[in-house]
Amino acid sequence: MAASKSRPSSQSPSQNWIFPSFEVQEKARAAGVSTDVVWVWQDASKKVQVPAKSPYAKTLEKIRAAEGFSARLGATQVVRFGGQDPAESVVFVGLRVASDLTEDKIRQAGAALWSRLGSEKFASAAIHLEEFAKQPQHLLKVRALLEGVVLSCYGFSKYKKIADPVHATRKLIFVASDRAMATHLGDEFKRALAVGEAVNITRDWSNEPSNFGTPEYFASESQKYARKYGLKCRVLSESDARREKMGLFLAVGQGSEREGKIVVLEYTPKKNASKARTIAFVGKGITFDSGGISIKPSLRMEEMKHDMTGAATLFGATLLAARLGVPNRIVTILAFTENMPDGMAIQPGNVVRARNGKTVEIINTDAEGRLILADVLDYAHEFKPDVIVDAATLTGAVQVALGKHCCGIMGNDDGLVQSLITAGQSNHERMWQLPMWDEYFEDLKSDSADMKNSANDGSGGTIRGAIFMNQFIRKGMKWAHLDIAAVANGMGHVPYFPKKGASGIYVRSLAQFASEF
Ligand code: BES
Ligand code: MN
Ligand code: ZN
Repeated sequence: MAASKSRPSSQSPSQNWIFPSFEVQEKARAAGVSTDVVWVWQDASKKVQVPAKSPYAKTLEKIRAAEGFSARLGATQVVRFGGQDPAESVVFVGLRVASDLTEDKIRQAGAALWSRLGSEKFASAAIHLEEFAKQPQHLLKVRALLEGVVLSCYGFSKYKKIADPVHATRKLIFVASDRAMATHLGDEFKRALAVGEAVNITRDWSNEPSNFGTPEYFASESQKYARKYGLKCRVLSESDARREKMGLFLAVGQGSEREGKIVVLEYTPKKNASKARTIAFVGKGITFDSGGISIKPSLRMEEMKHDMTGAATLFGATLLAARLGVPNRIVTILAFTENMPDGMAIQPGNVVRARNGKTVEIINTDAEGRLILADVLDYAHEFKPDVIVDAATLTGAVQVALGKHCCGIMGNDDGLVQSLITAGQSNHERMWQLPMWDEYFEDLKSDSADMKNSANDGSGGTIRGAIFMNQFIRKGMKWAHLDIAAVANGMGHVPYFPKKGASGIYVRSLAQFASEF
């Protein structure tokens, strides 16, 4: 009870986000709104453009001279008029040179605008889109702007007695340039809210501390959301996994007191279901990765609560795809378990049999993601999908190779890999392909089993992870693997991702892939 006192009543104690309401207005000034948002461009010589017809031409002229407002991307300038017309205040947002404008730059500018509206404590604002309408593909740009706002609405504060301050802006009014745009905006609002919710659910899952975020918790959360979104959902227990002979999945969880769970979600399109193709999404859901007996150093070990972000991402993508009504069938398999050291934990040198009958020598118990995925990838074939796509925080090596600006993508079918990359590009969620040559398997040959789970010499780690999992993909099945270890969390350098914790990256691209595939 006491906790609710410290929070505004509009935000329930467990909600880590709240979206503003979106409204559309045609042409005229929005009634009851005291803040106007005006976009400002630079001309070819990088000088601030002052549109002659703008009611704010004079003001803009003044701040350009007095404040040095340069209209660089995401720069904001607030002017308060103290009650005079045309509005009480105006927020200028820089968009740099019009010819350089990309959707992602607008997404970033949307985030900058949202942050400024909050720090100025403006309760509502009217965003003028007339300037946007002059841009090519302006509707996609409006979409990006909305995404910039909704993706910025998140803060993991559910366990704080005094929650982080709630954003002051409750209402955004979009002033459309014409009737067609106004009609279209209504659909875009719905889409943006669906995107925001799916991404934030992924962030919530990823950020959940592993004392609460157990396999059982994610299984029951899955069932809760499946009911809400009209998805089929089944949960396999460890005894089901034993019946399925998932020896690798079970081996990883052997050192944990908490029971592993495998969630199977199914989405079927309402129309033309018989003609639909099937995508299997497979996610790594290690709720905490201590490394096991090959225990990790303690520095930043707390980040290993995020080791279920592959599962969280595919969960969010599936919810979003369902909400958008994509035309393909999706089977999403999420493998949740915990990697802990105890008296029953797997040990280096152990040999374990996988669901597909192959044996694996455990060299390093910290290479656990590929073990659980091996069994669920094999299991995914039973649903007769056309393609399998997995996402996993699989290797630290991917950050060494590629840094924090993309994920690593690997697969056995270049067409599939390319269509994922393409879906990623249009959302500015970048993926970079790494090779999968047979020679890499040489390093995984074992003296005592069909293969080993790691080579322990620190080279080509990300590729080896994928090469290992490829041993569990059957002949003729198309498969791609996203190693998201570097970008799952700590993406504060992207304006519309949270400063700390989970990013929620790839939810949008994977849902888009599911619709275009
Ligand atoms: N969950 C880790 C990968 C990881 C590392 C994610 C850092 C995020 C940040 C994974 O299970 C792991 O421990 N991989 C090992 C593999 C190695 C033992 C072959 C790694 O990357 O060191
Ligand atoms: Mn590990
Ligand atoms: Zn791991």
